[in-house]
Amino acid sequence: MARVLSGIKPTGTLTLGNYIGALKRFPAFQTLHNSFIFIADLHALTLPIDPEVLKKNAFDLAAFYLAAGLDPEKTTLFLQSQVSAHAELNTILTNYAYMGEMARMTQFKEKSEAKKEQAIGLGLFTYPVLMAADILLYDAEIVPVGEDQRQHVELTRDLAQRFNHRYGDVLVMPKAELSKVGARVMSLSDPTKKMSKSDPKGNIELSEDLASVRKKIMSAVTDSDTIVRYDVAQKPGISNLMTIYASLKEISLENVEKTFAGQTYGMFKKAVADVVCEELQQLQERYQSIVASGLVHHVLKQGAQRAQSIANATLQRVKAAVGLWL
Ligand code: TYM
Repeated sequence: MARVLSGIKPTGTLTLGNYIGALKRFPAFQTLHNSFIFIADLHALTLPIDPEVLKKNAFDLAAFYLAAGLDPEKTTLFLQSQVSAHAELNTILTNYAYMGEMARMTQFKEKSEAKKEQAIGLGLFTYPVLMAADILLYDAEIVPVGEDQRQHVELTRDLAQRFNHRYGDVLVMPKAELSKVGARVMSLSDPTKKMSKSDPKGNIELSEDLASVRKKIMSAVTDSDTIVRYDVAQKPGISNLMTIYASLKEISLENVEKTFAGQTYGMFKKAVADVVCEELQQLQERYQSIVASGLVHHVLKQGAQRAQSIANATLQRVKAAVGLWL
């Protein structure tokens, strides 16, 4: 069984982009693969965050993992900070990563753009090394992520190759796994930008009130044409709504075009709002019952124990390879 690993940062409320690009896809892996899904709370410290907000976000993310269908008997669910091997492998791997390649990372450039160099945290700069440690510790071959994380997984491959070139076959080569439709869900208010946790006007939050979700979809920015057709360059807004609809209905974009041939944008938007609200309503109900069950902490504790035993074994292999005493 191939190992699968992915994680989400608890920096804010999850968005429909996180759901379609990542979360919704995770449960499918747990039946066929050995699956590790975690809460990247150490990564959440790379930008300022209130301690209580961080704790609450991490708890909510765990509850949403379960609500989305992850079964803790099949998937190892854990908090990154509770498996100290992540921090240890990170320390070792920083020695094989170059400043030039860190500085070229698109996410680093975006997140540091508005800051003066003196105010950019080192953690933000070396963010991808910790992410490489996350992946490599579990010998993960498959890493399901959205488009914006592809570059970080590529860097992980470069690091693994560099390390193995020097020390032999120690690390397993991972590969990013992107969905064909929905790897980059765009903002509803500006469909040329990615939907993100930090843009409440253009995003849909998984815990959002459904009336507000419907309103945002009905007023999503589109073009002045009237045909429901997939064309990212000419019709980014409609193409984005088509992506959302196709992903949630699990149908092709061609199928969406056919279904809405001859219909107005208003009719199409209503259908998108219906499908999103239906999905979110179910998710929110399951989230509520999971929170009420009081099981989240237990699941994370058990997950951390399982994760530790796998991660520590890889760490030992790495330590032995580089010449550290075990
Ligand atoms: P994060 O928390 O920013 O996003 C979590 C997942 O959601 C995907 N995603 C999207 N997919 C489609 N459309 C969007 N608009 C959209 N926005 C976000 C992301 O691609 C991601 O898959 N660095 C990671 C967390 C991480 C990680 C890892 C992931 C840490 N270590 C190891 C995989 C493996 C992050 O910040 O994701």
